Amino acid sequence: MEDASPKKGNQEILETQEVSLRFGGVEALNGLSFSISPHQIVAIIGPNGAGKTTLLNAITGVHSPDSGEIFFRGMPISKLKPFEIAALGINRTFQQAQLFANMTVGENVMVGMHPKTKSGFLGGVLHLPGERREENKIREKAETLLDFFGLLPKAAWMATYISIAEQKRLEICRAMAGEPQLLLLDEPAAGLNIRETEGLGDLIVKLKERGQTIILVEHNMHLVMSIADWLIVLHHGSKIGEGRPEEIQKNSRVVEAYLGTSKIFTAEIAEDAEATENNRIRKSNKYGFQVFRI
Ligand SMILES: Nc1ncnc2c1ncn2[C@@H]1O[C@H](COP(=O)(O)OP(=O)(O)O)[C@@H](O)[C@H]1O
Ligand SMILES: [Mg+2]
Repeated sequence: MEDASPKKGNQEILETQEVSLRFGGVEALNGLSFSISPHQIVAIIGPNGAGKTTLLNAITGVHSPDSGEIFFRGMPISKLKPFEIAALGINRTFQQAQLFANMTVGENVMVGMHPKTKSGFLGGVLHLPGERREENKIREKAETLLDFFGLLPKAAWMATYISIAEQKRLEICRAMAGEPQLLLLDEPAAGLNIRETEGLGDLIVKLKERGQTIILVEHNMHLVMSIADWLIVLHHGSKIGEGRPEEIQKNSRVVEAYLGTSKIFTAEIAEDAEATENNRIRKSNKYGFQVFRI
């Protein structure tokens, strides 16, 4: 079997070295070091307040670490601004969907593309030559993406009128519109029912199969254990374990600090570990059983 470990020397897409970030007396990130190789789904898990969102904020330039460094394809990025990091190829979604409420679904996706276009925003405003051709190209690309995310029939709807599940998919769709090399998802399944979570899991896996590298912050352990190649477990801003899903389930430190707090979790995962891939696909609530939520 091919080694799914993200530790493959200089192929890493992202590396953090001893990253610390403090809010007043709270050590939100505490000497955090890990690396991620491309084309994987890497899940960041841990209890509420563990520092997961802060980590995404540090990677995307929302907060600058107090010490340590973050490397994207070998380039230090910890001092860069969010728009500079986005331009380098890191896009994200938010724990609470952040969409443009006064725009349609399609427009929300097209906005996500602007940094990549040649004439850019200004060209669009001034109606420079080539702008119309470019707009057609943008529209076509948006349609392809919307179709991939099952949102094409809703392209003309206002973003606020679609369901929560559709809004969550739209946020990922918009993040993908910028053609990121690294996609960060902050709790994409929060608020979704079993069927919606299952659909979301399938989409995330499909993105990976297209070559996308994904960092997934998620509380739904069934989803995480079903689709992640690698897990990093945070506790009070520190990494307390990392490994493949089956390794993490057996890691006594992780189980004690996090997973072991739910008996249901252990039972479900044990059952799941025995199931073949086909069995799992046939199970009606493939990812949806909310085994652990804090
Ligand atoms: N902007 C902020 N200002 C002050 N404290 C914060 C801020 N963001 C996060 N924190 C604190 O940092 C810790 C980690 O939070 P967070 O990264 O949101 O955790 P998680 O996403 O794992 O639930 C928590 O104690 C939280 O209260
Ligand atoms: Mg969070």
